[in-house]
Amino acid sequence: MGIKRPEKMLTRRAAARGKIILFGEHAAVYGFPALGLQLEEELMVTLKEGGREASIQRIRCSRAPGAEKRLRKLLQELAAPQHSVFRRAAELSVRSELPPGLGFGSSAALCAALAKLYLGEGAGTAEIWKEAHRLEKLFHGTPSGIDTGLSLIPGTTLFLPRPPALPEFRRLPDFPAGLLVGAVPRSAGTADLVARIAAEREKNGSAVNRLLSELGEVSGKAAEMVEQSKRPHQDKMPDYSAGLGACADRSQEILAELGLSTAELDFCLRTAREAGARGAKLSGAGGGGAFFAIMKSREELEDAYSRMKRSCKRKGIPLLYLKQYPAAGGD
Ligand code: PMV
Repeated sequence: MGIKRPEKMLTRRAAARGKIILFGEHAAVYGFPALGLQLEEELMVTLKEGGREASIQRIRCSRAPGAEKRLRKLLQELAAPQHSVFRRAAELSVRSELPPGLGFGSSAALCAALAKLYLGEGAGTAEIWKEAHRLEKLFHGTPSGIDTGLSLIPGTTLFLPRPPALPEFRRLPDFPAGLLVGAVPRSAGTADLVARIAAEREKNGSAVNRLLSELGEVSGKAAEMVEQSKRPHQDKMPDYSAGLGACADRSQEILAELGLSTAELDFCLRTAREAGARGAKLSGAGGGGAFFAIMKSREELEDAYSRMKRSCKRKGIPLLYLKQYPAAGGD
């Protein structure tokens, strides 16, 4: 009797990136425009095919140690046999630079990376996006598709949603202002927050529709400014920060009216404005989570970064993420 050789394990990897929604969150679910930005941080899935049984081997989240449990839960749901993600026994590992559950698109990146993996190298972005969208529906029934889009499309993108189909999109020039991006703990998940707006819309249709429609209008206005800006010159960036800041502030007022802001978010946004931000808002589903502030110059951005750290520490607010995104140039 011959010796049974161990089965050959085939290793494949795929990655997708995180995002922040700049304008139009929640509005996008109802077909209004939204604008977002892909982040550098990525999530990578490694698949070893050919094992005896499907298993999740290792989950590491470098930006948020302790958040692995959440990612593992998402992965378990996605890898369940009924979703036909993997046809063969496979060992899966995930390495993520994105803190999950805060609005930085960690679950969308997981869906997109898995879709890339099992569709294989021949698949184009449209096909991967479609599949990632199917998977994302498992997390919150009615995703607009902007999160999975941003996990796959680099740079700044304007989305024109067409629910239930995937949105149309247009890639824009680089965002022409500095961004201070942060996050505080979230009190509810995306699915709950999206459902809350849906319930509010049932009760109070025309008022809520008016607010959602205005969020979409603001997205369109901001996209026009970004489009006009082109790449900044060598050493002097045209100043779009005031206009974009006003768009952020108006969006935040509306999101707060929809009940999506929190005292901790309000504190961070106020701190950013006091440190010179031209405007600031929550980003993503809200209830805490991600936020950003629009800064005019690199100097102001650095100053606001330190002030935010100090003020949150003094107030006892746990800042789960804080990063500067300097648009090239600055004055
Ligand atoms: O939970 P987040 O931050 O990834 O944001 C979801 C964005 C929503 O507009 C609230 C929902 C959607 O599918 O567009």
